[in-house]
Amino acid sequence: MPQKIDFSDPLLDASDSKVGIAVVGCGYVGLVAAVCFAEIGHTVICVDNDATKIGELQAGRIPIHENHLAELLRTQKPDALRFTTSLADAVRASEAIFVAVGTPPLENGDADLSYVESVAAEIARSVNGYKVIVEKSTVPVYTSDWVGRVLRRNGVDRGQVDVVSNPEFLREGTAVVDFLHPDRIVVGTASNRAFSVLSRIYRPLTDGSYYRRAGSVPGSCSEAQPAPILRTSAKSAELIKHASNAFLAMKISFINLVANVCESVDADIEEVSQGMGMDRRIGSRFLSAGLGYGGSCFPKDIKAFRAISEQLGLDFTLLKEVERINNRQQTLFLKKVRSALWNLRGKRLAVLGLAFKGGTDDIRESPAISLVRSFLAEGCIVSGYDPAAMERAAATLNSPNLSMAESAYEALDRADALVILTEWPEFAQLDLDEVKRRLAHPIVFDGRNLFDCADMARRGFTYVSVGRPPADECAEMVAIARRA
Ligand code: UDX
Ligand code: UDX
Repeated sequence: MPQKIDFSDPLLDASDSKVGIAVVGCGYVGLVAAVCFAEIGHTVICVDNDATKIGELQAGRIPIHENHLAELLRTQKPDALRFTTSLADAVRASEAIFVAVGTPPLENGDADLSYVESVAAEIARSVNGYKVIVEKSTVPVYTSDWVGRVLRRNGVDRGQVDVVSNPEFLREGTAVVDFLHPDRIVVGTASNRAFSVLSRIYRPLTDGSYYRRAGSVPGSCSEAQPAPILRTSAKSAELIKHASNAFLAMKISFINLVANVCESVDADIEEVSQGMGMDRRIGSRFLSAGLGYGGSCFPKDIKAFRAISEQLGLDFTLLKEVERINNRQQTLFLKKVRSALWNLRGKRLAVLGLAFKGGTDDIRESPAISLVRSFLAEGCIVSGYDPAAMERAAATLNSPNLSMAESAYEALDRADALVILTEWPEFAQLDLDEVKRRLAHPIVFDGRNLFDCADMARRGFTYVSVGRPPADECAEMVAIARRA
């Protein structure tokens, strides 16, 4: 059982609550962690080897779309948060070094840990006293052992450094709230000394003092219900991350599979999902059918978890099935669009949503991008709009048949159909009379089930969504597509 933390333990009770922290990697995870550590009272140096990114951050400009982040960066005192490309300076000035560099998937599905290794070797060459090296990046089990070996091979004495696993559970778009109001803080280490440092770092969240502060970011934690901290071994902490993401992805693939059953029997997945979610053992979150999951984490982490399991000689084909179901959602959706529009070549499609989910500008592994590529390959003329991801999308799609609109409504003008691919809240608020006026034909394909079927039928739309009975007119065609 994980160790119960006794905060009266003198070892944990350190005098100076302010910790010198270095965060290596100013990406979606590292930048949020650095700003939030400064927000809860620590002195933070954020390091990145991308000098352009560091220059932007030093000028106070945020390269990613994250709620609260710009505001928090602006309100930090100058000495609380600094940005540099010099890892050596940051290591020498810090007690805890959080490694949040990318761990992208290799061809065979393994996580590419070469950046983690090169950063660990560079840290070793700058160690000037006791340091805690903290794995914040999502890494496979055993990584903490390897980081320890790399540090020692590069001249660090065994007692000089401890390696800790402290996985992140941040969802893009809500990462700041997820960081400051965590369901749990997991700290994986066998070293009491290292645990004492991590306890000091997270103390403002675990004792609730941050939530009592005027101007603190609101969320589910409070002084009365502070953030819980769980101490485990490093390996268990590494597995908690992979297993949690794999379970959430499995939950999404499961509800998408049920959605396909619903379509075959004209049931309604929204009703089924609601009925399932009322069972507290299941829960209603991560039970929304749609185009499947994307992003820089679920696809990568599932591949990495399966790869490490196979290396251990374990059969984790369940995860292969999770991936297969997920990828099939896009194929099924494309078939529906084709079945209701007949020939796609030359058809004008208004596409709302390009990011992998609402609330972010990230298009990594975005189902929307993958489907737009398919539409363009079939000769469609696409007018796209996304509140945050258009610049990144245009750079990666780069097609003469793709234009970006200034607004959701502008994208609709004279389109043969509207296709909704990302669950941005503003899309669910669209004025449907205005939508109908602007479209050349009242046809809507909704990959995220944002609208009510009966209401859309009443308004005269041909409305095709996921796991719900299509409007009468194209029901037969969609049924044929499903059997094809
Ligand atoms: C990444 C991983 O994808 C995720 O699995 C892990 O949990 C945290 O780190 P993310 O922040 O989205 O998540 O990665 P990314 O946006 O690619 O940022 C990584 C940053 O590290 C980039 O800014 C990159 O320039 C920087 N980096 C990378 C270094 O500073 N040094 C390196 O050697 C490699
Ligand atoms: C995920 C995990 O939630 C987070 O804990 C981890 O640290 C990083 O990976 P993220 O990928 O940022 O976070 O977004 P998330 O909100 O989990 O959505 C992931 C994908 O699943 C998105 O493509 C989203 O559209 C999809 N999704 C989510 C569904 O299709 N249905 C759902 O019910 C929920």
